[in-house]
Amino acid sequence: MNVHLNAADVSTRTRAIVAGCKHLEGPLLPILHEIQHEFGFVSQEAVPVIASELNLSRAEVHGVVTFYHDFRDHPAGRHVLKLCRAEACQSMGGEALAERAKKLLGIDWHQTTMDGAVTLEPVFCLGLCSCAPSAMLDGAVHGRVAASDLDDLIAEARQ
Ligand code: FES
Repeated sequence: MNVHLNAADVSTRTRAIVAGCKHLEGPLLPILHEIQHEFGFVSQEAVPVIASELNLSRAEVHGVVTFYHDFRDHPAGRHVLKLCRAEACQSMGGEALAERAKKLLGIDWHQTTMDGAVTLEPVFCLGLCSCAPSAMLDGAVHGRVAASDLDDLIAEARQ
């Protein structure tokens, strides 16, 4: 991730990514994934470039970025904690876990702690339904997350 690029760099690299994916059927999602992989988020500078290259409106591109929880429109913290919000996890205490995480971190969904350490994001099924409730810290999945496990994950992320 490189969030220190200027607008011209973002524009140039976004154009290159679009050029590499334009031939795909339904290129917008792969383009957004690649941009997020490259920059860590889909910046305001990238949206008009994508829109003009794909003959879409900015609102259409922005709508897709905000619709899918995988995409973020601002840089994440040093660590990303995702908590599953889908049904199996909700039925196994996911809501209480989410409230605990928000309280411990002092933030809401999609926000980052003041020290820049942790971004909290919802995710809709991590494929660990039989081990609900589940969480993911920086890409590593954790099942049967009890309150004390959550506390440990957050402490680890804040170190
Ligand atoms: S519902 Fe949470 S992992 Fe599937």
